[in-house]
Amino acid sequence: MTIRELKPGIYYVGVIDWDRRLFDELIPLPNGTSYNAYLVMGSEKVAIIDTVDSARREELIGNLQRLKIERIDYVVANHAEQDHSGAIPTVLELYPEAKIVTNMRCKDMLIDLLQVSSDKFITVNDGDSLPLGGKTLEFILAPWVHWPETMFTYLREYSILFTCDFFGSHLAASDLFVVDDVKVYEAAKRYYAEIMMPFRMMIRKNLEKIKNLEIEMVAPSHGPVYSKPEFILNAYREWVSDNVRNEVVIPYISMHGSTGKMVSYFVNALIERGVTVKPFNLSKTDIGELAIALVDAATIVVASPTVLTGPHPNVLYAVYLVNILKPKLKYVSIIGSYGWGGRMLEQITGLLTNLQVEFLKPVIVKGYPRVEDLKELDRLADEILRKHRELGITTASSSF
Ligand code: FEO
Repeated sequence: MTIRELKPGIYYVGVIDWDRRLFDELIPLPNGTSYNAYLVMGSEKVAIIDTVDSARREELIGNLQRLKIERIDYVVANHAEQDHSGAIPTVLELYPEAKIVTNMRCKDMLIDLLQVSSDKFITVNDGDSLPLGGKTLEFILAPWVHWPETMFTYLREYSILFTCDFFGSHLAASDLFVVDDVKVYEAAKRYYAEIMMPFRMMIRKNLEKIKNLEIEMVAPSHGPVYSKPEFILNAYREWVSDNVRNEVVIPYISMHGSTGKMVSYFVNALIERGVTVKPFNLSKTDIGELAIALVDAATIVVASPTVLTGPHPNVLYAVYLVNILKPKLKYVSIIGSYGWGGRMLEQITGLLTNLQVEFLKPVIVKGYPRVEDLKELDRLADEILRKHRELGITTASSSF
């Protein structure tokens, strides 16, 4: 049981998932996660804000029973994805008088995903409010963080903003509130990188929308609650800004050592020029670590051997992910090796259509790199340094 009281009559009733290690069968969860649901008890009405993954619905129901909740009037759905909406049908079974409160777009999605009857809904628009008796919920439509129907719920009297995925972190922790700033920062940055980064421009609009809201607490539906909201607000402002760092990310694979030699030489060449380098061996790396590095980096250099006629498949997979995550990179290049031919360059550049970047002259060598090939890597390192200098970002800076 994980019941905690945030404020009088406002309870955390969610579930901590300590052991989950994969989300969407794609995203690594090194620190587990949580599905946060919040019970808000007014003098006249009771609302629950978001639910939990259907696999953990029994624990949510256990929390409500332990609190001896006999009636729920409203189930507020900030987001239709099943890790928050999955237990809605169970809540409705147990509390048949409850109505789902959400926007029209989310209603349609919940009907599709959960096959809930349309007469179970109360739809709200941007700015609408719902009095509970001494506590008032206000709804702020915030589309595309990270689905089209996402919204926030603001509890006026306590200035608590319930943001669902937005500002969240996949982090199982026994503390209700942020205690370990560094750990939460890393987890929230990972979450931003994997889930939110493709929607950077929409996030800017939504940050602008809540700019003048008095916020004392941010309560997301994954990870700890922020009792000092500026911590996460400032982090998001930086991540969605156009600022990039003097960093080069190098996702790579080497099969017989040729590309490995190039990467090793190139990493040292960049270090000697004062550039921060983040190499990721794709046969070993957690792709979340790669995603985090892409939040701030100015440049990516993809390194691959040639397999049959193209890049190594692990490189193609990574490049595909980079493209859909839409990081704010400025420069791209490619280095690697081939045996007898192939179309590696075209295949990699053809996958990076979402990026607004300048492609720097690649370094592709036949077989094991010779002295003149290594000089070409120096030439590329020089060019990257010059480009970074033009951006005014040659000073290494810490991320926290
Ligand atoms: Fe945590 Fe988009 O679901």
